[in-house]
Amino acid sequence: MSGPLVLGIESSCDETSVGIVRGTELLANEVASSVELHARFGGVVPEVASRAHLEAMVPTLERALAKADTDLGEVDAIAVTAGPGLMGSLVVGLSAAKTLASVLKVPFYGLNHLVGHVAVDILDHGPLPTPVLALLVSGGHTQLLEVRDITGDIDEVGTTIDDAAGEAYDKVARLLGLEYPGGPVIDKAAQDGDPKAVAFPRGLTARHDMAKHRFDYSFSGLKTAVARYVERSERDGEPISVDDVAASFQEAVADVLTGKAVDACQELGIKHMVLGGGVAANSRLRTLMAERCEKAGVELRRPRPGLCTDNGAMIAVLGAQVIEAGRAPSSLEIPADSGMPV
Ligand code: KG4
Ligand code: ZN
Repeated sequence: MSGPLVLGIESSCDETSVGIVRGTELLANEVASSVELHARFGGVVPEVASRAHLEAMVPTLERALAKADTDLGEVDAIAVTAGPGLMGSLVVGLSAAKTLASVLKVPFYGLNHLVGHVAVDILDHGPLPTPVLALLVSGGHTQLLEVRDITGDIDEVGTTIDDAAGEAYDKVARLLGLEYPGGPVIDKAAQDGDPKAVAFPRGLTARHDMAKHRFDYSFSGLKTAVARYVERSERDGEPISVDDVAASFQEAVADVLTGKAVDACQELGIKHMVLGGGVAANSRLRTLMAERCEKAGVELRRPRPGLCTDNGAMIAVLGAQVIEAGRAPSSLEIPADSGMPV
């Protein structure tokens, strides 16, 4: 294997992570999560996350270097998430990355977190085919992206008009009395439930919605439907089956995510699809998408679940791609951009 040795730092939300790659080869990906500190609040508390990044950054860096069996003197470039994300969290990673690049006198790249979620599949399956349709589903974003070049030519084809898919998972988990983050626990509960038990709505699939929002998503109606269902059961004194509600909710999310993504491929003449973001770890989404892509003649790429959630390797591999494409490094003065678009 060859290519630049890139160290990537990710700190946009509640994971402090350092990844090291050589070109497209994964050498280390250490993640320290502060999720347990946030669990009792039912969501990420920004101030708590920032402090946790500050504590975890250097130990995580040291673990990643040891795992990759290298030292800082060998590193060719530093890549870091510059946005989008929580401002106080981004600032910790950016400060660490700028300092390292300045002291080591190596190029510095401030990169987009969302693009990193798409790029990470390169570590599992090699360079991305183009064009490729990316379904990016995370805690803060739900987007369909037409990617012609991962280092700079990306168009948004569709997006959520309200909640992100991961946000819906987290809110529904709370309604069901399950812990935060909701995605993994709902995924697990759904294994023992009946996906046909409750007919939850599929957002923006009615004909009048499709005219205006062909490839857009909406999950707030689904979340409200789950809330109504739980309220009604409580009022009527009929206990609900958490497993059945989880399975039915998960089916509704997977159904609309996969349906619109496959339709977009067909309509835009795109033959390849790639999944990215924390919700791409979802077992039902992964299998249903594989089934529907196969039927539609679309080749699907799914990064291993451990690479779907936030991690430093996704930023490192995007950095390696950017370097190999000959893009100029970023200035050491760039700010954190909490609302950075793709
Ligand atoms: O990409 P990510 O790690 O962070 C953001 O950039 O937001 O995504 C986190 C989201 C959370 O909402 C979490 O509940 C969801 O991904 N998630 C899942 C699963 N694992 C994580 N959602 C559904 N099924 C899963 N297995
Ligand atoms: Zn993310």
